[in-house]
Amino acid sequence: MGNDKPQARGVTRRAFATTLVAGGAATAVIPLWAWAQQAGAPLNYPFPAQPGNLGLTLAPTPACGAATEAQTEGPFYSPQTPLRANLHEQNERAPKLVLQGLVLTPDCRPLANAVIDFWHCDDGGDYDNRTFRYRGHQFTDANGVYRLETIRPPMYPGRTPHIHAKLQGQQTRLLTTQVYFPDAADTNARDGIFSPRLLIAQRTLADGTIDGRFDFVLARA
Ligand SMILES: [Fe+2]
Repeated sequence: MGNDKPQARGVTRRAFATTLVAGGAATAVIPLWAWAQQAGAPLNYPFPAQPGNLGLTLAPTPACGAATEAQTEGPFYSPQTPLRANLHEQNERAPKLVLQGLVLTPDCRPLANAVIDFWHCDDGGDYDNRTFRYRGHQFTDANGVYRLETIRPPMYPGRTPHIHAKLQGQQTRLLTTQVYFPDAADTNARDGIFSPRLLIAQRTLADGTIDGRFDFVLARA
């Protein structure tokens, strides 16, 4: 489809090439300042009041193709967590984290209504095994998107910073895994469980919040 664009505009590929070869003549006709002005001019289209929905069905992510690597559950998993995507508590000392992404099949199709159970340590490096602090499950939306709002957990003795997750689609296998932070390279390198394939993409926003992205891939049952 991309091959026929020049013809569609009435310019053949050969004519376009000729124009390039004769570029000196074109420059002589249209002064450089005029080109610069065109390049910087606003498009001047009216923006729609609401964005459209392009019906995303395939996600261009390198995570597709194989199921996300499974990792140990560890000793601190609690089942039957509250339904919530926001795990924030009062008086937190750790940076805020917003982790978002897709849950996909191995052929890159988003999985709606997949459940994700997240858990991680508090800002002191401790797990709460009596209540559900920093534990919660959520379901992906119609586009297979999840969004977790919490803190960036610190390292604790023997472990680099990480977040645990268990995921299950309606027709997938259960996945138990952990995700990691690229800005913890030193402790990642010393952690025997760490896997570079489970690194999130991250950036730090102006207010200090860490904005993260990770796409999970679940094998079919
Ligand atoms: Fe852990």
